[in-house]
Amino acid sequence: MAQRTFSIVKPDAVRKHFTGAILAQIDKAGFQIVAIKKASISKEQAKGFYAVHAGKPFFDALTTFMSSGPLFLMVLEKDNAIADLRKLMGATNPANAEEGTIRKNFAGSLQENAIHGSDAEDTAAFEIGYWFAGYELA
Ligand code: CMP
Repeated sequence: MAQRTFSIVKPDAVRKHFTGAILAQIDKAGFQIVAIKKASISKEQAKGFYAVHAGKPFFDALTTFMSSGPLFLMVLEKDNAIADLRKLMGATNPANAEEGTIRKNFAGSLQENAIHGSDAEDTAAFEIGYWFAGYELA
């Protein structure tokens, strides 16, 4: 059954002009791009989005990085979208990412890892609702 997930092309990938190549890889893998918008988010917005990581040692660096430049916020749809996008992205740390994955191809480090994808149905629902209004997904 078609499922939606939330994804971000992160500021590092946008800065390096990898956006088009990453979207092509997502498109070719069979995802529908339900919605996409470019944004420059504030540190406060990043903190709200990553609230689950509040208190972790990398939280401040992560939210500073995510608010360091433009990014692309996306809602993607396909059968098994959440797991399939995680597989297509590869491991969080690009040093451990499999050949051909987006992070292997485009990520520079654990923090500057090119792309975000929701890890479960409840987080996908939270993340989509955090960045998109219902009318943007009709
Ligand atoms: P993402 O999938 O967006 O979710 C949280 C992000 O935190 C993750 O990608 C990484 O970019 C980052 N992250 C996770 N673990 C660490 C870590 N140990 N050090 C720095 N950044 C991390």
